Amino acid sequence: MSQIATLILDGESHDFPVIVGTENEPAIDISTLRARTGLITLDQGLGNTGSCRSAITYIDGERGILRYRGIPIEQFANGPNFIEVAWLLIFGRLPTSDEYAGFARELTHQANIDEGMKHHFDSFPRKAAPMAILSSMVNALSCFHPEFLELDSPEKFWAAAARLMSKIRTIAAFAYRHSRGLPYMYPDPNLKYVPNFLHMMFSMPYDHFICDELVRDAFNLILILHADHEQNCSTSTVRMVGSSRANLFASCSAGISALWGPLHGGANVAVLEMLQKIHEGHLTPQEYMRLAKDKASGVRLMGFGHRVYKNFDPRAKLLGQIAEELLPKLGKKDPLLDIARGLEAIALEDPYFVERKLYPNVDFYSGIILRAIGIPVNMFTVIFAMGRLPGWIAHWWEQNQSETRIARPRQIYTGNGLTDYTPMPGRGRTPAATEG
Ligand code: CMC
Repeated sequence: MSQIATLILDGESHDFPVIVGTENEPAIDISTLRARTGLITLDQGLGNTGSCRSAITYIDGERGILRYRGIPIEQFANGPNFIEVAWLLIFGRLPTSDEYAGFARELTHQANIDEGMKHHFDSFPRKAAPMAILSSMVNALSCFHPEFLELDSPEKFWAAAARLMSKIRTIAAFAYRHSRGLPYMYPDPNLKYVPNFLHMMFSMPYDHFICDELVRDAFNLILILHADHEQNCSTSTVRMVGSSRANLFASCSAGISALWGPLHGGANVAVLEMLQKIHEGHLTPQEYMRLAKDKASGVRLMGFGHRVYKNFDPRAKLLGQIAEELLPKLGKKDPLLDIARGLEAIALEDPYFVERKLYPNVDFYSGIILRAIGIPVNMFTVIFAMGRLPGWIAHWWEQNQSETRIARPRQIYTGNGLTDYTPMPGRGRTPAATEG
């Protein structure tokens, strides 16, 4: 039987339907709240707000569950194939072998970027952050592919999605090459998605990078584990921008900017910096933990905690295992892995972290794996963006296909009451705000 939530306001009752998702997660549908009561809700950080209905990804943060289109992420760990998972997320089901082959062919076909676009890289300063370049260049795709500004058929969407998926990898690699003053390496049509990216990152005109199978699989899995995470900050940004009917490239470019922040995708860089600081002896793990628990210090244990997971982040579990397996197989011993394990052990026993249900998140181990593969730290968040792209594309399309209104939240105004304009010559120091 369907449930009703009743709001009593000044003695008057207002009933709102309780709706449930496919996994029985309940929500009060307040779509008519303002029209009926004149009230809005205030939910800073939106932790209690469902902003849409979505059929892409399911998370149960209490139980540490993450599923793409119903499939638990652990099932992608064997022979990981990022492009297959990208198809699943974007088009809603696993591809047939023909569909997969056709999409993969298109990715190969579209891997080059317009030569005109290539010149843009040269005008960025060497020290420019690769995330800034990535966001700019993904937006610039709107200039080079105006035929995709409106996606009015599934066929056109397919072509635009393939183009974006393919070109982001070339843009990402070129951003790195530019930052190092290295010659751009063109994509190799004989290579698959991940080996091709690593070739553009690491080959030289006189020395072809050969991608080890272990590295290929680890990198595929990293991309898969970042591929979608329902209404996180960057995905919500893509949906917010897309709700104005902004094009796919512009919306994903905005998502990249949102991902850049250290509380979101930028945390993988912050984790490495934290581990490095401890390794260099600036702080012991115990001292760092003391600071992380002291609110006044402004320090957090980076790579720990999550808005949704109040249990182990299942992505962190898989990445922790890969780090343990990959490093010895690559003949690498990274002291930062030991430090990370040490911090994790302390945190899992410490009442501060236990009571707040703070566990390692996806960023805690991803940097250590990327470092072992040879990816420089300033590219970590770029790799996160490459991984998250199919999720952004899927959400943009899902929203585009539904009858969504432009996203336009309300606010509680806390500024000045009615205030008169004072002409410049008569102005003293800024007057104190008048209470409203
Ligand atoms: N270290 C120390 N204390 C923490 C941490 C942390 N990493 N995370 C949360 N807390 C404390 C916080 O101070 C608060 O304490 P109190 O209740 O005493 O005020 C409590 O735990 C709840 O934290 P919150 O800030 O209200 O939680 P949130 O849901 O707003 O933030 C978060 C989630 C991920 C931003 C936060 O846990 C954090 O800053 N973590 C470190 C940064 C990080 O690793 N980010 C990557 C997130 S996963 C990848 C992604 O989605 O991009």
